[in-house]
Amino acid sequence: MDPYRLNRLLTAEEIASIVKGLADQISRDYEGKELILVCILKGAFMFLSDLIRHLRILVKVDFVRLTSYGAGMKSSGLVEITKDIEIPIEGKNVLIIEDIVDSGRTLQFLKERLALSNPRSIKICALLDKKARREVQVEVDYLGKEIEDIFIVGYGIDFNEGYRNLPEIHYVIPNAPQKE
Ligand code: IMP
Ligand code: MG
Repeated sequence: MDPYRLNRLLTAEEIASIVKGLADQISRDYEGKELILVCILKGAFMFLSDLIRHLRILVKVDFVRLTSYGAGMKSSGLVEITKDIEIPIEGKNVLIIEDIVDSGRTLQFLKERLALSNPRSIKICALLDKKARREVQVEVDYLGKEIEDIFIVGYGIDFNEGYRNLPEIHYVIPNAPQKE
């Protein structure tokens, strides 16, 4: 028996409608302005790729790779940058693209780090937010959906690097160990 089973939280259609709604808001707010999207790898790659297709403004895209989670479901609380942005952001409008906010440490770290380059503005767009788990104060400017404190996978989001390819979002339920 598999140690985990998946239960669907959001269908591909529900995700698509959330993403389109976010893109419309962003297109409206940044109309006539230059915008640099900073996507947090790896989890937000699918969200970014769908989001930008709906944006009707001039955007540039860059990536950072941050690690906070180890191989399991629990965060170490320590954030490290393993790949930095390459586009200069001084004087530019920056929008961070994140898959899911949990303790808030990843976004707090990245926002502070990007601020050192003196951008004109820095805002945050996240697909999902587990607000109840917040440990540090981080404001999400564009939020897709608040969810409960459950571990989720799919649509770019992983568990032990697996499940990123699933087009829906599922939560992971450990199966009870089988009696011999
Ligand atoms: P934070 O720094 O505690 O806010 O954690 C944010 C990061 O943890 C996100 O970028 C995700 O990659 C990862 N994460 C948080 N919750 C989940 C989850 O339910 N499933 C998979 N990854 C998660
Ligand atoms: Mg992530």
